[in-house]
Amino acid sequence: MRALILAGLAGAAMMAAILVVVAWVWLWAGGFDPRASSPSRWAPVALDIALKQRIEAADARLGPPPASNDRRAVIGYRQYDAECAACHGAPDAPRALWAKSLNPQPPDLTETPARLSPKALFWLICHGVKMTAMPAFGVQRTDDEIWDLALFVRALPTMKAQDYQRLRATYGPAPKPFALTPDAACLRGD
Ligand code: HEC
Repeated sequence: MRALILAGLAGAAMMAAILVVVAWVWLWAGGFDPRASSPSRWAPVALDIALKQRIEAADARLGPPPASNDRRAVIGYRQYDAECAACHGAPDAPRALWAKSLNPQPPDLTETPARLSPKALFWLICHGVKMTAMPAFGVQRTDDEIWDLALFVRALPTMKAQDYQRLRATYGPAPKPFALTPDAACLRGD
């Protein structure tokens, strides 16, 4: 019996070693194309599955979002204009040209209908997305500031260019950087 278990373990170890070698040869032979200039096939599929699962878990775990108000909208605007608009667009300006050559491309958040809940947005903005250009803002924002961003992003698709320009006229171009407050509590969860 003991010999059988040992043989099984040795077989499993051998299989694992073969898989590692095959994966390495596949990578070495160009199986994964790292160029941003060429289309991606499998990475976005894997990313979508992993993200969906995490977002659903965060949606179930997080408490309700704070209520939106004018003060929160201004703080959301100032952060968004300084650090998101170039990649994700603003109601009165398209994304920067270079943002369109990122792979994956950042979605234009003024066009996409609000498909993500405020809680999902909060989680995404806090943690960012690995292997894409989407930064983890939890390393430099408080939870409150990230909620302000999430509520602002949620309102973007229905915001008129004039409303955005009014925010800019009243509160000026966003300061750069907005504020550095390291280590949001949201980083300590999953
Ligand atoms: C340098 C470019 C860049 C910057 C700056 C950036 N993002 Fe992103 N963002 C991305 C990319 C790329 C993706 C797509 C990630 C993916 O494919 O999963 C993304 C995805 C997102 C998504 C998910 C959208 C969806 O429908 O799936 C949200 C929300 C988001 N970003 C919000 C923000 C906010 C808010 C800021 C500023 C605080 C910001 N991003 C700054 C590049 C950027």
